[in-house]
Amino acid sequence: MSGQQFVSLNGALVKKEEAVIPFYDHGLLYGDGLFEGIRVYNGLVFKLDEHVARLYYSAKALNINLPAPPQATRETILETVRANGHRDGYIRVTVTRGTGLGLDPKHIKGEANVYISCEQLALYPPEMYEDGLIVATVSTRLPSPDVIDPRVKCTGKYINNIMAKAEANRSGAGEGLMLTREGYVGEATGDNIFLVKGGQLLTPPATIGILQGITRDTVIMLAQAAGISVSEPIMTQYDVYNADEVFLTGTAAEVIPAVEFDGRLIGDGKPGPMTRQLMAAFREHTRTTGVPAF
Ligand SMILES: Cc1ncc(COP(=O)(O)O)c(C=O)c1O
Repeated sequence: MSGQQFVSLNGALVKKEEAVIPFYDHGLLYGDGLFEGIRVYNGLVFKLDEHVARLYYSAKALNINLPAPPQATRETILETVRANGHRDGYIRVTVTRGTGLGLDPKHIKGEANVYISCEQLALYPPEMYEDGLIVATVSTRLPSPDVIDPRVKCTGKYINNIMAKAEANRSGAGEGLMLTREGYVGEATGDNIFLVKGGQLLTPPATIGILQGITRDTVIMLAQAAGISVSEPIMTQYDVYNADEVFLTGTAAEVIPAVEFDGRLIGDGKPGPMTRQLMAAFREHTRTTGVPAF
């Protein structure tokens, strides 16, 4: 591999440094777009069809028409992975409503813009997966589902997550726990949260106003396959502080232990046995399942 990176711009592969985004892209002007982060492990694109399906569901909800059907977008994603030669990498698919100045979509001439890249991405240093993350509950609340449905993975909504992440970082934490408007445990800024209590796995219900993570669904499936009981109760910070173990899940972060919340150690302050078991199961599963890119 030459090291030259390519991105896909509306279906055409171009050198990354030569890629030009329209000045009046609605995504740039108004955050009017949606995205997916997808990982490729060992040459296999993990949960590719689930990510493509979520992308098209988000598009339907926002009334954005992608210029190509899901099967064609899937092929363009695979082509972008191949062009960059990454057997392990992070794919980012961004779709915006199109190009045009003015809020009203009728100012947009032409089709939605589709941008795809594939890079190497390590969200946290390896020692954090060994030692665990410090997490702070942030004051930035999750948007209420009656304002933006959390299943819509739209770019504009992420200003809230960026503010929450910065707030967590300012307090010395590596991640921020976001609560719902009612104060219930929601999700971290880019990850879902799991608690272990008395040998059972608990995670907030997707309907509470969080993204229904594909990693979350995978961990639930792996846990159930290992005979672990999984439930989705409404929880508060009290449940987090008194959990035996906590971990976060997301495509970018993968499965990562969280060992301290708001100055309280979780359990003995070390990643626990069920977290380690599920991290190992996830690693094995991602290495061996997925859509071959090469
Ligand atoms: C807010 C939020 N929650 C949860 C997740 C985890 O979702 P997934 O496992 O599908 O990556 C993400 C990442 O996409 C996210 O941005």
